Amino acid sequence: MFRIGEFPFLVKARHRFKGNGSRSACYTVNYFMMESSSRRKFLAAPLLGFTTSAYARYVEPTWIERTDRECVLSNLTRPVALVHLSDFHASEVVPMSHIERAIDMAIDASPDLICMTGDFITHRSGFDPAWYTKTLSRLARKAPTFAVLGNHDGGSWAGKGGGHQTTTQVRRMLENSGAQVLINRTAKLTCNGATLQMVGVGDLWAGEIEPAQAFEHADPALPTVLLSHNPDSKALLGDYAWDLMLCGHTHGGQVVVPVVGLNPAPVRDREYIAGLKPWNGRRIHISRGIGSIRGIRFNCRPEVTKLHLLPKV
Ligand SMILES: [Fe+2]
Repeated sequence: MFRIGEFPFLVKARHRFKGNGSRSACYTVNYFMMESSSRRKFLAAPLLGFTTSAYARYVEPTWIERTDRECVLSNLTRPVALVHLSDFHASEVVPMSHIERAIDMAIDASPDLICMTGDFITHRSGFDPAWYTKTLSRLARKAPTFAVLGNHDGGSWAGKGGGHQTTTQVRRMLENSGAQVLINRTAKLTCNGATLQMVGVGDLWAGEIEPAQAFEHADPALPTVLLSHNPDSKALLGDYAWDLMLCGHTHGGQVVVPVVGLNPAPVRDREYIAGLKPWNGRRIHISRGIGSIRGIRFNCRPEVTKLHLLPKV
């Protein structure tokens, strides 16, 4: 046990430094006078902070999790394997190699159908459109692929923050990759022997959701998967017939610390931040996404989700 009385030079030094009013010197001396257990704690705090920061910046954002969830759809006649991807956020902090890894995982999941729910980019820069198109085209070669756009992909919200004023560039990139971009429209398809329809809407924050137009040609008797970037949009879409809504936007909160209640997901309804949730007799799946803003994640790994859509028995 360290006792200050056994080290007279420290006692003298403390008195001298206190007398001089030198705060930094007192601080140094006090450090040496600490009990050894206190000193360990003193050293552990910055070490823990450094390790946590390094993990949140360099480990977790790159550590993609494959999640599997089951969802029963009324009127579905055969099982369908749907892979849901969202929020790639190609940028200076989300390299194309990370997006390619997510696409590898999506293809390895043997999907019958692939859905992407927006925020393909963060800003105007930080990615090569030709390379991005080529990378995304691997999905459409594997299975029918549908996409909607997010608030970062262009439009009124993105334009105010220096992003694209229109969605033209991202739409063109997706369409050239072979994906069907659903902005306020419906597409029917037969998938693994089952007929279903996909409905997609514009982005909520961009003010581009037109529910009547989106569902104009939808058949309420068919199992319906609705794609909408922002889960808060459910309030605008509740009067229409759909079974499952796929969303992103939240990134699951991105930095989640339950003990202190930290979860900065940018949504009004805090019940719909991540996972597969019931809502008014239907289901909503909110993806934690692939990329991130500012390249950090904590307790909220990026995810590639395989949704096992099952017929009602
Ligand atoms: Fe996003």
